Amino acid sequence: MEKEVEIKFNGKMYTLPVIKGTEDEMAVDISKLRSDLNLITLDRGYKNTGSTLSSITFLDGEKGILRYRGYAIEELAEKSSFLEVAYLLIYGELPNKNELDNFTNNISEHTLVHEDVKSILDGFPSNSHPMGVLGSLVSSLTAFYPKSLDPNRSSDEINGTIIRAIAKLPTLAAWSFKNRMRQPVVYPDNRLDYCSNFIRMMFSLPTFEYKINPVITKALNKLLILHADHEQNCSASTVRIVGSSHASLYASISAGIAALWGPLHGGANQAVIEMLEEIKQSGGDVDKYISKAKDKSDPFRLMGFGHRVYKSFDPRAKIIKKAAHDVLDQLGINDPVLDIAMRLEKVALNDSYFKTRNLYPNVDFYSGIIYRALGVPTDMFTVMFALGRLPGWIAQWKEMRENNEPIGRPRQVYTGKNYRKYLDINQR
Ligand code: SDX
Repeated sequence: MEKEVEIKFNGKMYTLPVIKGTEDEMAVDISKLRSDLNLITLDRGYKNTGSTLSSITFLDGEKGILRYRGYAIEELAEKSSFLEVAYLLIYGELPNKNELDNFTNNISEHTLVHEDVKSILDGFPSNSHPMGVLGSLVSSLTAFYPKSLDPNRSSDEINGTIIRAIAKLPTLAAWSFKNRMRQPVVYPDNRLDYCSNFIRMMFSLPTFEYKINPVITKALNKLLILHADHEQNCSASTVRIVGSSHASLYASISAGIAALWGPLHGGANQAVIEMLEEIKQSGGDVDKYISKAKDKSDPFRLMGFGHRVYKSFDPRAKIIKKAAHDVLDQLGINDPVLDIAMRLEKVALNDSYFKTRNLYPNVDFYSGIIYRALGVPTDMFTVMFALGRLPGWIAQWKEMRENNEPIGRPRQVYTGKNYRKYLDINQR
């Protein structure tokens, strides 16, 4: 196997080293390209550029493989719990019973947030999108835990910051929803498991104690596992680059929430349901929307379809599609939007436009149907994605810090004006 590539430039030959990962992925190491050849590379959207070496998540877009620390997503979704997967992603190994109990108890002791968070929350109008509120509340944690501002503190202190992030995000997420509904916030109940505690904070009221439904908490547990990490996606890369400036974990997570919000990324799960609802309102004419998605003059995209890496089925979409059927059956819900989603998928997968571009359903295509069945309102869907993705962001931030990665600062190719003399205003 080649260990280097040759490049001919200005009549001279140069060699660049090729490195190979544990799954035989190979990369040209261009660290010396500028110093030796005075060249940089250009790769808009980093479609072909590796930003780091990472041992957290492996995915193979051609084969539809996704593994967290070597464990297959299919097995983890079926057999594990969200907190166990969070431990695996952050610390690198599946916990034994004692380790998992300590991790779980540690988290359950830190679910409460400072009472002053409510004053911050009250500053947001009720029509604030919960993702905007959540990002601000996460950033505000630096005010209540000023030691978290320094990412160079002891590993025990860093671990305390990590535990608080995992413990408090469900509370902040549920409170973002309560702000949206202009309902009083519900405090966490540490006797409940992670998912039950969150659902209860979302749906309980002073006059109504939400009855935990195991079907719902089991489905949520599976969804959070499926969203937990996905290597160098847009929001994880954001968390890494913000953290590379030695910004705090909370500031880096807040930046990740902002990146995830976009409809091309985590915001797609909200956009999918809005698209399916529009198709339903227009009489269920899926062919019309397939044509719109193919029409280059139309900005409409089939939301929940396509992926930067997966050029075959997103393995998470397969699992979520089955879970959607199971949850709706178990809850006795007949959601016409699920039928529309399945018809849309069938037509798209048989259409040459989608087939030639390897556009398949991704993680966001069916997840909103389950969130809806769980009673989660549409503009909370991306908050649910953030709840799932948190351990992945933490694991990526921690790996970047432990590997002492340099500050992220890409180069550019300048295409603006060459030097020109300043003219006084009456000369212009
Ligand atoms: C997530 O990166 C991750 O890992 C993300 C994620 C994670 O877990 O973190 O998996 C979560 O973000 C999933 C993706 C959710 N987004 C959507 O569902 C939005 C709809 N999909 C897209 O906009 C698009 O597919 C992306 C953004 C997901 C990927 O875009 P790329 O890789 O930049 O591909 P592209 O835009 O260059 O598209 C290639 C071609 C283009 O057509 P041509 O120029 O070749 O003619 O495919 C077309 C695109 O127009 N295309 C679509 C399409 N997606 C791509 N056409 C119609 N509908 C779509 N959904």
